[in-house]
Amino acid sequence: MTDTTELRPRKLFIKTYGCQMNVYDSDRMADALAPHGYEPTPVIDDADLVVLNTCHIREKASEKVFSELGRLAELRREGGRDFTIGVAGCVAQAEGEEIARRSKAVDLVFGPQSYHRLPELLSRVRRGTPVVETEFPEEDKFEHLPLAQKQVIRSRGLTAFLTVQEGCDKFCSFCVVPYTRGAETSRPLEQVLTEARRLIEAGVRELTLLGQNVNAYHGLDAAGRSVGLGELCARLAEIEGLARLRYTTSHPSDMTDELIAAHRDNDKLMPYLHLPVQSGSDAILKVMNRRHTRADYLRTIERIKAARPDVALSGDFIVGFPGETDADFEQTLSIVREVGYASAFTFKYSIRPGTPGADMDGQVEEAVKTERLARLNELVTAQMRGFARACVGRTLDVLLDKPGRLPGQLGGRSPYLQAVHLEASADLIGTVQPVLIVGAGNNSIEGKIVTHAERNPASVLESQELAAI
Ligand code: SAH
Ligand code: SF4
Ligand code: F3S
Repeated sequence: MTDTTELRPRKLFIKTYGCQMNVYDSDRMADALAPHGYEPTPVIDDADLVVLNTCHIREKASEKVFSELGRLAELRREGGRDFTIGVAGCVAQAEGEEIARRSKAVDLVFGPQSYHRLPELLSRVRRGTPVVETEFPEEDKFEHLPLAQKQVIRSRGLTAFLTVQEGCDKFCSFCVVPYTRGAETSRPLEQVLTEARRLIEAGVRELTLLGQNVNAYHGLDAAGRSVGLGELCARLAEIEGLARLRYTTSHPSDMTDELIAAHRDNDKLMPYLHLPVQSGSDAILKVMNRRHTRADYLRTIERIKAARPDVALSGDFIVGFPGETDADFEQTLSIVREVGYASAFTFKYSIRPGTPGADMDGQVEEAVKTERLARLNELVTAQMRGFARACVGRTLDVLLDKPGRLPGQLGGRSPYLQAVHLEASADLIGTVQPVLIVGAGNNSIEGKIVTHAERNPASVLESQELAAI
């Protein structure tokens, strides 16, 4: 055991790239280091330890790390101050030793499955040979990562992420995640419930369950029985104090009947689902190895809407995958029109070395990708604005979670993850209120609190209306 009383406080600066799981992981790294005297700082110049928590998903994301390392090396040389530089996350996992070779400033490279070993890895760091730890360890990191102190949880806000599943066995032909995060694993039910209780006792009102394929969750309960995501959500919903539940990211093939029924039966589960399809063309879905067709995807959405008519969807799309013709791309535009998304993330296909897509014939020219992306963006932006406008005049339940920009204002979020601004007193922070939406901007909506009795009866967004946007 380390005697923490004798440690001088040291400052930790973590820069996070990539997805929500990295955001969650960065907090867990900070939690792992807290008993060893490290306090987070938002100021890089104060840091004794700088960790870059990196993302490998597209070339741009992963190249950013090397330019940041260049800047850090310069800061260390010219700032006249010593600090340790660590690289974590998916680039660390994918490139390991190569990072240390490319950047002499790096002291420590460690992959996502080693975060519980961070204190020990740091004690091995001596300037000279960098420590590189990218093995997948035997032990379960979550068993060894300490939970955050309550005041630390409180300082992070009223909404929190909680990883329940990690890794992926799907091997879509464009994607690095199965290589960087490893095989699909689910955390045991009790472990998830314990962490959730701690968060909720500290004041968290909304939990977002995370996983690369979160709906493939199949954690074991105390009796060794496998539990699906729908049941996990039911168990979490029993915890007093929790107002809302979400989960992300889902794979269309793992939308089981049990999970869809949870959308009907569990009123803490928000009617908003991130369900990436990537392409609307069956030919492209096949070479992407997505394991479902366009029709399967649309049928899945119908099943979800039958269970929860006010559900809104968000999605991910890739344009310019190898072999994508104009006609294939038109199919993507048409599925977007058919579904009607509340939000969407669009990407140009980025070649990832080591994935099957990298070696495929028919790579699409950059100019074509750019043109397709612009057309797709025009469509999804119109849908996103249309969705926000369709909320005006309706009453949505809003979780008020922070002070607003001006005195007397609060900020919150709608069931559809929209930022909501309204006038209300600060003692309502942490509550869910019925809010009549009166205006829609580009990035947020505005509303005013109404009484439950004044609720607009037409508050449910019908699926037909969404598809018509
Ligand atoms: N597990 C999730 C998504 C993980 S990555 C799923 O199954 O859908 C997040 C998004 O990044 C993907 O949905 C995809 O749209 C995009 N993406 C992944 N690899 C990419 C690549 N090589 N080029 C462009 N976009 C990519
Ligand atoms: Fe990547 Fe496909 Fe796995 Fe999602 S399902 S993480 S896109 S391989
Ligand atoms: Fe990026 Fe790794 Fe997340 S590659 S998107 S940080 S799982």
